[in-house]
Amino acid sequence: MKYQDRPLVQALQRFHNQKPVSFHVPGHKGGALSDLPTAVRQALAYDLTELAGLDDLHEATGAIKEAEDKLACLYGSERSFFLVNGSTVGNLAMLYATVQPGDLVMVQRNAHKSIFNALELTGANPVFLSPDWDGQTQTAGTVSLKTVKEALTQYPDVKAAIFTTPTYYGIVNRDLRQIIEVCHSRKIPVLIDEAHGAHFIAHDAFPKSALELGADLVVQSAHKTLPAMTMASFLHIRSKFIRTERVAHYLQMLQSSSPSYLMMASLDDARYYAETYNEKDYESFQVYRNNLIQGLYNTPCVEVIETDDQLKLLVRATGHSGYVLQEALEQQGIYPELADLYQVLLVLPLVKARDEVCIDDVAGKFKNAMDCLAKKEITSVRLNNYLSNSAPSTVVYTATQLHTMDKEWVSMQSATGKVAAEAIIPYPPGIPLLCAGECINQDHIKQIYDLLVAGCRFQGAINRETKQVKVVLNR
Ligand SMILES: Cc1ncc(COP(=O)(O)O)c(C=O)c1O
Repeated sequence: MKYQDRPLVQALQRFHNQKPVSFHVPGHKGGALSDLPTAVRQALAYDLTELAGLDDLHEATGAIKEAEDKLACLYGSERSFFLVNGSTVGNLAMLYATVQPGDLVMVQRNAHKSIFNALELTGANPVFLSPDWDGQTQTAGTVSLKTVKEALTQYPDVKAAIFTTPTYYGIVNRDLRQIIEVCHSRKIPVLIDEAHGAHFIAHDAFPKSALELGADLVVQSAHKTLPAMTMASFLHIRSKFIRTERVAHYLQMLQSSSPSYLMMASLDDARYYAETYNEKDYESFQVYRNNLIQGLYNTPCVEVIETDDQLKLLVRATGHSGYVLQEALEQQGIYPELADLYQVLLVLPLVKARDEVCIDDVAGKFKNAMDCLAKKEITSVRLNNYLSNSAPSTVVYTATQLHTMDKEWVSMQSATGKVAAEAIIPYPPGIPLLCAGECINQDHIKQIYDLLVAGCRFQGAINRETKQVKVVLNR
């Protein structure tokens, strides 16, 4: 294996080749003191630290800088950063670098919890936007231009916007270019949680990356769809509104001062993988994907749903929930990414022409799983969409204010006009119907009743048995 064009991987290899004597951290001493399985111990020989020629993530001038520059070049950013604590730290850093306490920030209700945590930590106030419901996948999708315009009319002082695209299920925001234009015309920077879209750059057949569409800051979990180690992620900036130094400043505050070199090397490798992905590779991926889909279609009672992202496939078993299907598949040794009421989600490998992937075995295992399900009782599957009607809204009390307030349980009939003490989250799909600090209105109560009657489960400040919700006492 040649490592040219992967500056950090090359630097690690060079260092390793010297057969160095370790009087430095980490304490496993190149794996010598480790009792982990042999393959892991061998990998620990590359688990190095800020040694001669290996650069420093937070003051990069050598191999890491070269690797990050190559990353920036590939994605067309002004500057790109390696992240060693997932898109989670990227979302935190994006918001810290962009907002001040008290600023209003547009955020979609189905954002990842790291975004809500970032809003709480920065003291910014959310303006919640409802995503459109995606009927095909039965999941919450992305936020429309119409909703963004509505929010801007209602909250003209918004200082930043953060959106998620693609969603976990691979639904891409088709209005994004226009949303960015509208926001930029009001000097509002647009931050994008593109955790699931690091591979878009690899081929023109994939959707456009948010960076190409003009977003200011974009975070990507390289580990989700490219061959990077778990947690290894990217953050890119290209902005007239946000200063790069601020992003770098918060990243060195929020990330470890001992970042994993294995993880960073895997990012260098993942960038190279995407950069060298060619037409032949894409053809191989298509062959692999089409064979898989065909194999699934040939399995009785299986339905396959494709989304905007070709790396995602949804599979349903007629008459059974996704949970039941997941269990049956796991018994066959097949592990989907997740299950919900209706389906399981598969994340496909972004194979290259060099990879030989045969799906015969997989198709056989799906068939075995379906044979097992055929013996099970059919469970009826309900549809619930409670998102479409809620207008943009903000909180009455911020998360920080709520910490010191007294709370009480009240009946749902008497909750209208009070402030929710904690989020109320129907599950699935796990998107807050009410967030902590939001004012409860009659629509919320009606939606909660309807969902309870339909047998929906809830997380958060609601008691199914007593039909009570937890609210702030003094309002
Ligand atoms: C949309 C979205 N954003 C951010 C994250 C956090 O990413 P990471 O696991 O890389 O920290 C996730 C994780 O699943 C996610 O789905």
